[in-house]
Amino acid sequence: MADLVAIETMGKAEAKRELARLADLLTAANAAYYQDDAPTLTDAEYDALKQRNAAIEARFPELKHSDSPTDQVGAAPADGFSKVAHRVRMLSLGNAFSADDVAEFDQSIRKYLGLGSETPLSYTAEPKIDGLSLSLRYEQGNLVQAATRGDGATGENVTANALTITDIPKKLDGAPDILEVRGEVYMAHSDFAALNVRQTENNAKTFANPRNAAAGSLRQLDPEITRARPLRFFAYAWGELSAPLADTQMGSINRLKEMGFSTNDLTAVGDGPEALIAHYEMIEQRRATLGYDIDGVVYKVNDLTLQNRLGFRSTTPRWAIAHKFPAELAWTRLENIEIQVGRTGALSPVARLSPVTVGGVVVSNATLHNEDYIAGRGGKGEEIRGGKDIRIGDWVQVYRAGDVIPKVADVDLSQRPPESQPYDFPDTCPECGSPAPREPGDAVRRCTGGLICPAQAVEKLKHFVSRAAFDIEGLGAKQVEQFYSDDWIAEPADIFTLQDRFGTGLQQLKNREGWGERSANNLFAAIAEKRTIPLNRVIFSLGIRHVGETNANLLARHYGSWTAFEAAMSAASPESEAWRDLLGIDGVGDVMARSLCAAFASGPERDAIDRLAAHLSIQDIAAPTRINSPVAGKTVVFTGTLEKMTRAEAKARAESLGAKVAGSISTKTDLLVAGPGAGSKAKKAADLGVKIVDEDGWLSMIADA
Ligand code: IVH
Repeated sequence: MADLVAIETMGKAEAKRELARLADLLTAANAAYYQDDAPTLTDAEYDALKQRNAAIEARFPELKHSDSPTDQVGAAPADGFSKVAHRVRMLSLGNAFSADDVAEFDQSIRKYLGLGSETPLSYTAEPKIDGLSLSLRYEQGNLVQAATRGDGATGENVTANALTITDIPKKLDGAPDILEVRGEVYMAHSDFAALNVRQTENNAKTFANPRNAAAGSLRQLDPEITRARPLRFFAYAWGELSAPLADTQMGSINRLKEMGFSTNDLTAVGDGPEALIAHYEMIEQRRATLGYDIDGVVYKVNDLTLQNRLGFRSTTPRWAIAHKFPAELAWTRLENIEIQVGRTGALSPVARLSPVTVGGVVVSNATLHNEDYIAGRGGKGEEIRGGKDIRIGDWVQVYRAGDVIPKVADVDLSQRPPESQPYDFPDTCPECGSPAPREPGDAVRRCTGGLICPAQAVEKLKHFVSRAAFDIEGLGAKQVEQFYSDDWIAEPADIFTLQDRFGTGLQQLKNREGWGERSANNLFAAIAEKRTIPLNRVIFSLGIRHVGETNANLLARHYGSWTAFEAAMSAASPESEAWRDLLGIDGVGDVMARSLCAAFASGPERDAIDRLAAHLSIQDIAAPTRINSPVAGKTVVFTGTLEKMTRAEAKARAESLGAKVAGSISTKTDLLVAGPGAGSKAKKAADLGVKIVDEDGWLSMIADA
């Protein structure tokens, strides 16, 4: 967009020509974005065009067309679909890459359920379709809503589009009153090839693979475009149900088939890991001739009562796993090794590669993990890649498994340049020059610069605005980088003063490149909205090492309020009461506790936390209370041997009923469940007057809950 005529000096005729040109550009950009799912402009470029259009119209109001792009494309692209909150979360699957992983999956399930190795346990095995998941809600047999997965909690409402897909029944016979069917939307190879031919003929953008084509076709604002795209659907799971479909996974899939859904014919039941692997190998052999893309085989516990008992981890079910096909490999040259500095100061080496296509995707970067990995050593000092180190200039074999960052599998020593040297890993931070030592037990070197290190500061800010943290609409990684490099924000608290500083006055956000009045106001509103925010998100947003989403939830549930959390972290020096209480939380260990205390000890990090908290109204987290649960809000400790369930299951069940499970007895304990062999904990509980029950006592207590 060089050589633009300044609007102030524009004559009327020129303005008219320019408006026509901008209208063409914007129309083409809209079509590329909405119809082809292949944007031709960045958001900033798009906004700049719109801004220029609006500015010319403001100077020459008489030239404004009734169909001006200013009025026409009201909604920001991402706002195109309305949002749907999933009543039952849409989760993803854990991965297995080898027969050992599959055996371990079976073992962990047996362990969780307390089943011996002789007890029969069957699973379904079915292809993992490489498309995008969709949830279809039927009420009284009528399709009433279709939603994409989105972030698992909230998806996009694509009902009008789903109605155009032939494979999706619009009415069901014999279905429960409420039935959410889940499955995969995909495009067959033949349809994909024909679509790309049509796209080429129409001078429209072609798609890189069937998955992208399916995603682009489903997410069309105009359902008539979706109708013209040959999408298909396989049903393989369900969400909310008013009545069970069957007792087993296989039975349920068969019922869905009877109701008219397409289900995958390669779904079978197997009795254990060996049978599953045999089915996997059979599917792998047929992979090339199936006519659609699959990227592995999914195993699910067949018995739904057991599935129910197994439940979920934070983002994946315990009762299912995806056994992925081996990753595709390719050789290329390692051009350079660059060091990236992360949020917690970790120095991560990244391989810059000569671009190479791996599994249909062009790869030009790969992770090199840490200095040991480059040197040919694994996490426990053992040799990896036969001990071969990685050097700049080497020919390396890279692979991609699923969505993960590409990795280096091997080095071709026969092609190593004679003058090459082992990589000399830096011992200072490349961003701020601070020492970057490697602490005992740590796999990586870390920059000691803290917030003075620009890389750490900007990564902390990116983490702060990320999806599971503050999730501020319009403020993503890119915007954070720009604001940081212009000294508009240096730490999270600064985000909340942006409007005061750049809402009015000489320097204004709306005058920045890529921003306009509307986007600036939207951003200020999105920031204001997040001033009120749940405790767990705030704890996660701080980016404290070892405190990920799951641990942040754990801490939020335990402390309940910011005041209690902040007071406890400030007081929790080792051996204090607060420290013991912190370590008493099941799931909190010494390492995490130390990391939390270090963040809250007085110093620059703590000051930044206080400055942030001053802008927020942090919402308490109530222990998940179930009105009819007699143990909601109670702190429970399990000790001794449990005979009817495993410790893991007992804990998960107690938590699902709103109890907190602690690892040790304290004055805060409400109940000790003591099995045979309970030792010092039972004595301590008795001393403190804590109620004690045995396993049967516990089971009858929660029987009706
Ligand atoms: S079951 C609670 N079965 O894979 C688990 N998922 O990596 C529900 N997928 O988000 C998923 N084929 O989009 C299941 N036969 C299959 C699948 C399948 C493809 C997708 C699905 C899921 C993703 C997880």
